[in-house]
Amino acid sequence: MPCRAIAVANQKGGTGKTATTLSLGVALAHRGKRVLLVDTDPQGGLAKSLSWTDPDSLETTIANHLSAVIEGEGADPREGILLT
Ligand SMILES: Nc1ncnc2c1ncn2[C@@H]1O[C@H](COP(=O)(O)OP(=O)(O)O)[C@@H](O)[C@H]1O
Ligand SMILES: [Mg+2]
Repeated sequence: MPCRAIAVANQKGGTGKTATTLSLGVALAHRGKRVLLVDTDPQGGLAKSLSWTDPDSLETTIANHLSAVIEGEGADPREGILLT
């Protein structure tokens, strides 16, 4: 199944990146698409908006995966995925 990646980026804060990402993800899911939202903001606003109210308590985040790549370590890419 083909996979499409969509990046929502702007160097300025408060411009609606998180809100846009959430809306896009929910809309695509409602259309039957399988959606993986990747929250690269250390504040975890996207995770919070999807009910993970304490992102700091998550054992695995994108930071762990990025570190693993930098260190040349293998890691299960599915680890840390939160299911709704
Ligand atoms: N289309 C919109 N209309 C009104 N308010 C919005 C809209 N998009 C985002 N906001 C509000 O603007 C603020 C910043 O949005 P956010 O998505 O958190 O920005 P970013 O992720 O770029 O920092 C939030 O309070 C959000 O609720
Ligand atoms: Mg944000």
